[in-house]
Amino acid sequence: MQLSDKKATLSFSDGSSPIEFPVYQGTIGPDVIDIRKLYGQSGMFTYDPGFLSTASCESGITYIDGDEGQLLYRGYPIDQLAQKCDFMDISYLILNGDLPDANQKKEFDSLVTHHTMVNEQLHFFLRGFRRDAHPMAVLTGLVGALAAFYHDSTDITNAHHRHVSAIRLIAKMPTLVAMAYKYSQGQPFIYPQNDLSYTGNFLRMMFATPCEEYKVNEVVERALDRIFILHADHEQNASTSTVRLCGSSGTNPFAAIASGVACLWGPAHGGANEACLQMLEELQANGGVAKVGEFMEKVKDKNSGVRLMGFGHRVYKNYDPRAKLMQETCKEVLAALGLENDPLFKLAMELERIALEDPYFVDRKLYPNVDFYSGIVQRAIGIPTSLFTAIFALARTVGWIAQWNEMLSDPDYKIGRPRQLYVGSEVRDIAGR
Ligand code: CMC
Repeated sequence: MQLSDKKATLSFSDGSSPIEFPVYQGTIGPDVIDIRKLYGQSGMFTYDPGFLSTASCESGITYIDGDEGQLLYRGYPIDQLAQKCDFMDISYLILNGDLPDANQKKEFDSLVTHHTMVNEQLHFFLRGFRRDAHPMAVLTGLVGALAAFYHDSTDITNAHHRHVSAIRLIAKMPTLVAMAYKYSQGQPFIYPQNDLSYTGNFLRMMFATPCEEYKVNEVVERALDRIFILHADHEQNASTSTVRLCGSSGTNPFAAIASGVACLWGPAHGGANEACLQMLEELQANGGVAKVGEFMEKVKDKNSGVRLMGFGHRVYKNYDPRAKLMQETCKEVLAALGLENDPLFKLAMELERIALEDPYFVDRKLYPNVDFYSGIVQRAIGIPTSLFTAIFALARTVGWIAQWNEMLSDPDYKIGRPRQLYVGSEVRDIAGR
């Protein structure tokens, strides 16, 4: 963070003295006004529900230019990363700041691979859930429970402990997600297999049974790996901010990441891919492409409460670059699996075509986001809709843990404690008791 020559001055209409604030510059993107001394000097807070104009931290991990539709991980554009790297490269990059060389990659792969198994007791913990429980309910519990099994890496002041926890979380998430799925199906858990890639291993844990050999389909493996890459980190979104806020109290990493999983579950965030596919399925069942116009009228009617899921974004006011890459992967997977005529894909394309021409969407700068196509890809791969958000959580874990670690490594870090504008009762006495 670099001090700018500029300063910001806040003046008041009641004649109080103006207050001057320093301005800091980042590498790219908007400058920030440092208002830390505002309350001390004026007795006032700022008011910014939803944090529309508030930078909660400095970070060097991810950068989004919402107007340009650009996403960078550690400075690299997402399209280059998606085309030239795999998810283990990305995880290394997000955690360590640079892409690995061949040796670093080999070591990192091996480290993650050798942490994929989970303590056997976790199976018993999982068996306490109903089989029809939502996978995100199960995952929130399982991730939080990791602290009960891996307390030898929960000293957050110890950089080695933080690293071990990061590796454990990245490595064990696929195992936990696959276990949650297998449990819901009443099928036996499949143990990880070390000669497979991170993503190949996940596919096998999801879809293999002890009864026959499972061969990983390379197109499917690449597509899922891309889904992981595109979801790996995304600045200070709701779940990442939740992880930071939760972690700022000094709680252990597993508890902090469990809070991120819980936040991600919501339909305005990670749950949107599930909601988007449900929307497409419902629309298909109720007339498909022929009824798109009618459906769009409902979306535009504020009283209907219907939104076009997979459209719009707090930061992107242009095409989400992840959506473009996802659309490409969608075409590739459907072709490889012989599903080119998939009606939901056709429906999605038609909705997108109409929305990109409709003034309602154009004026509000509403473009497809990553979730618009990721559901179709996952469905084609055989992943049930209810598991979509858990896949997102699996991929986002590396971002969460890197952001958590970045916060704890910052000498200026403080417990997060927003203020409020109190509008409740004034002081009053209890009467009549
Ligand atoms: N369909 C119809 N109208 C919409 C939509 C949509 N999907 N998204 C926003 N709008 C309208 C909204 O009604 C408002 O209109 P007006 O100005 O007339 O009141 C305007 O666009 C601005 O919307 P907003 O809700 O104030 O914008 P926001 O930045 O607070 O919300 C959002 C962003 C993602 C929550 C929202 O666009 C949305 O609900 N989208 C659908 C859910 C979705 O796909 N979420 C996934 C986000 S990407 C995955 C991730 O990173 O987690």
